[in-house]
Amino acid sequence: MSLYDRLLQEAKDANIDDQEKVQDLLKFIDNVQNDHAKQAAATKLKALIRQHRRHPFQQEQSRVQPRSSVKLGRGWKGGVVSLPVDSLTKHVLAVGQSGSGKTTLFYNIMSELDDQDIPFWAFDLKQDYRHLVNSEQVDDVLVIPVEKLRLNPLRPPPGVESKKWLSRFMEVFCDTQELLGGSDRFLDKQLHRFDDQAYGETLGDLREYIQERSVPPQRRAFQYRVEGSIGRLLRDAPRTFDVSKGYNLEDLLKRNVVFEFDGLKKWTKNFLMELLITWIYEYRKAQNHRGDGVRHVTFLDEAKTILSKYKEEQTASGLPEIDDRTAKLREFEESLIAADQESTKLTDSIKTNTYTKILLATGDAKEFRSIAESLKMDGLQKRWAKQLGVGEAVVQKGESSPLAVRLPDFRLEKGVTDDELVSLMSDEWRQLSFEPASSSSTGSEVEKSREEKDEEKDSEGNGVSDEGKRLLEDIARNPFRSVTERYEDFSSRYQGDKAKKELLEQELIDEKTVSLKQGRTKLFEITESGEELLDDLGVEFDRVGRGGIEHRYWQHRVSDKLGDAVIEKDHADVYVETGEDRIALEIALGRNEREIQHLSDRLEQDFDRVITLCRNNGVQSFIESKLEDTELPEEQVDILLLREFLDTEQPL
Ligand SMILES: Nc1ncnc2c1ncn2[C@@H]1O[C@H](COP(=O)(O)OP(=O)(O)O)[C@@H](O)[C@H]1O
Ligand SMILES: [Mg+2]
Repeated sequence: MSLYDRLLQEAKDANIDDQEKVQDLLKFIDNVQNDHAKQAAATKLKALIRQHRRHPFQQEQSRVQPRSSVKLGRGWKGGVVSLPVDSLTKHVLAVGQSGSGKTTLFYNIMSELDDQDIPFWAFDLKQDYRHLVNSEQVDDVLVIPVEKLRLNPLRPPPGVESKKWLSRFMEVFCDTQELLGGSDRFLDKQLHRFDDQAYGETLGDLREYIQERSVPPQRRAFQYRVEGSIGRLLRDAPRTFDVSKGYNLEDLLKRNVVFEFDGLKKWTKNFLMELLITWIYEYRKAQNHRGDGVRHVTFLDEAKTILSKYKEEQTASGLPEIDDRTAKLREFEESLIAADQESTKLTDSIKTNTYTKILLATGDAKEFRSIAESLKMDGLQKRWAKQLGVGEAVVQKGESSPLAVRLPDFRLEKGVTDDELVSLMSDEWRQLSFEPASSSSTGSEVEKSREEKDEEKDSEGNGVSDEGKRLLEDIARNPFRSVTERYEDFSSRYQGDKAKKELLEQELIDEKTVSLKQGRTKLFEITESGEELLDDLGVEFDRVGRGGIEHRYWQHRVSDKLGDAVIEKDHADVYVETGEDRIALEIALGRNEREIQHLSDRLEQDFDRVITLCRNNGVQSFIESKLEDTELPEEQVDILLLREFLDTEQPL
């Protein structure tokens, strides 16, 4: 084989034979007579091929970000990789394993959108996005946990005819409640009658209406199923739907809003997300908001909850409604940016209907194949993409060649607790107006089905069921037990959960989620009314420790870890003696100057050592930096991370 043929083959194998520079060199090698010059050109070409094999992607040349684009990151040679803003309406899908950097990528895109005054909504299933309230890179973020959301799913968007909206509602409802054949026709008919009779206006009214219809026996199963499904939604999000008119979504579309849907049942999450997307779509269509720009972006982290392949397979009509709507959203300057860990579980339609695909680190071979297939990578590129690290990605825009990109990190202190959220947002929430349900019959009575009413007969007094009382007592006696353990005392998880919801609804307890090294745990704080009820029930209880439930929880964990320690002694959160030393341990949950005061107070009390245990790095570095400004003796003070402390075998 001639030198020319060999090099041509190698260039083809590396998939760069169509590059201009490569073709020039090949032509030169083929034609030149001088052996020396031929060899020199061959060396150059071999170097190009080698280089390409090491990094088999084309490079963006420009180091400046194009106008009207969203920057993703930089290529290996420093060129800016970005997405033109107008391509966003053709949607974006990012796939990568957990920890590969999807949420961080979203933070960065949000910040870029904010710079361009393009508002976004984020459907958040993991409390990832509330922390943006602390970020200077994204302004004016409104966080709406589902308990604060007010939405009447039966009320059409401005400009949309009622009948038409009810059909859309019906589709979303049946799709997300997985009601198959028959139920939809039944509901459709009932809905239109319900509408004609102006019977009521809330989801609760609709349920009551359906419940009271007398229907032929062969329809009863549908009646029962539809009524039951509405009941599930009402129970899962009791306050959300009990309104005649919810928040003004038209206004919210002009703001950055994080909808928190964690902790809800699957069907409720899906219902809310699909309904909101459908709302946007019908609204834009009615207002004729057409154009080529981007008006608004919706982020869907953990997309498979609504774009699930299993649903695609289940729905007899083929495509789930939501996918269909997604495809049409682009006409109305709406963009959907979705991410998930498992591409195999996403609908094919979402994979083919997204213009921009971003592949992040994916360890699982099957997952990798599934997403790699929808990118147009050659063999070398695939091999290379298998080795992606955290924050590294391959991006493909439409049919153009894939690009490798290093994504930037995003500095964000992830410490916003429920309490902090309330204090940050309560003014905002108060300003969101809604109209409560008008007829009083839509109150709690309607939300209870017949079986529930029966179940409740055996409870007496205080309006709290026996299960509720039992759970409250358990919380009083064993404040730090896990929810799973608590529920084991009930006949089913469902019953346990129901008791919990009852206590929450009656404001006998507050719920608090604490992030642990792995996952999170739920804690319950007994409210004043809760204490009163316990008093009535003759249950004595004492709070061990100081401060809120989370603070007490960590006091408990730390003291447990140390064995012979005491909670609250000589003003220390946790007190322990080892040999000669008296040690004070302090729990620091927030960036608070007071922690420095505690430190100095303990040292003044002649403790030999003081250890401050911090909830996270942010708190730790805050205290460390404050400590530097003081004269306190460093050798007697340790500022450690709570989770590291608890993980260390001999922490003292
Ligand atoms: N581009 C990046 N550069 C450096 N670190 C990153 C980058 N992206 C993510 N990380 C880090 O990796 C961890 C997981 O990132 P995250 O965005 O939450 O991943 P995912 O959402 O895919 O689970 C975080 O601690 C984050 O700081
Ligand atoms: Mg994530």
